Amino acid sequence: MAKQAEGPLVNPVEMAMPDSAAVVSRVKENSRYDNVFRSIYGQDVLNDSDKGYAAIADAIATFEKTSMFMPFDSRYDRALRGEIKLTPQEELGKTLFFSQQFTNCNACHQLSSSPFNPQETFTNYEYRNIGVPANPDLMAQNGNKKDFGLLDNPAINDPRQAGKFKVPSLRNVAVTGPYMHNGVFQDLRTVVLFYDKYNNPKRVINPETGQLWGEPEVPEKVDLATLEKAPALPDRRVDAIVAFLKTLTDQRYEPLLNGQ
Ligand code: HEC
Repeated sequence: MAKQAEGPLVNPVEMAMPDSAAVVSRVKENSRYDNVFRSIYGQDVLNDSDKGYAAIADAIATFEKTSMFMPFDSRYDRALRGEIKLTPQEELGKTLFFSQQFTNCNACHQLSSSPFNPQETFTNYEYRNIGVPANPDLMAQNGNKKDFGLLDNPAINDPRQAGKFKVPSLRNVAVTGPYMHNGVFQDLRTVVLFYDKYNNPKRVINPETGQLWGEPEVPEKVDLATLEKAPALPDRRVDAIVAFLKTLTDQRYEPLLNGQ
């Protein structure tokens, strides 16, 4: 966990700080942080950039383990604990989501082998190519560069990894659009329709563009073996899955669901 917290601060495409020393001196500028760090990690911890950086990563990782960071208080979680009841539509969506007969969502978006695990993260943390189309607006801004996903990682050179992206968690997904690594879909319902197009000959049009679904950005190795395994979804089931995905919203973000 702490190792993971070290990365984004100095990653050029994330927070882009030049190095660990720069991060430590930024933290030191704030006298409150300076005091708290010294009281927890030792008086001279921020005088050494390695020790200071390790302490910063440790503090973030510790925060990520708290119930403030992982409250497990969405309607999904509350229903699991018997505190509330889901609506019949949400209940239908939940059944569809976790069933291998009606959808294949949980082949990728389920960590625990037992379906209703109280700390389910809704990702198996694997990398998959699901055939997401390029986002033309984004391409226009980055010189039409294709995004090869995992294969763009300098440490990876196996062409079979082209177009794979990490399966994301679906917690809070209803309030964190746009969707996919490139933001190609604005609406959660479009994402569900996108999956259905693999199995439903009627879903040929992307409702956001009014055009045919775009070709996969990286067409080789799309995981069709998994994606083409479900029956077509009638609209009622699409809506139920969207309603279910909304139940994965932490209580503090529920007000953001209004008007969607
Ligand atoms: C083969 C594995 C796989 C299956 C099956 C699958 N997903 Fe995904 N899902 C992914 C991957 C990988 C991404 C990220 C793709 C990207 O960023 O380009 C994703 C992205 C998403 C997103 C967008 C998340 C975001 O924050 O952008 C939603 C919503 C979603 N999936 C819901 C579902 C639902 C609902 C189903 C079942 C109908 C499903 N998925 C089936 C692998 C899968």
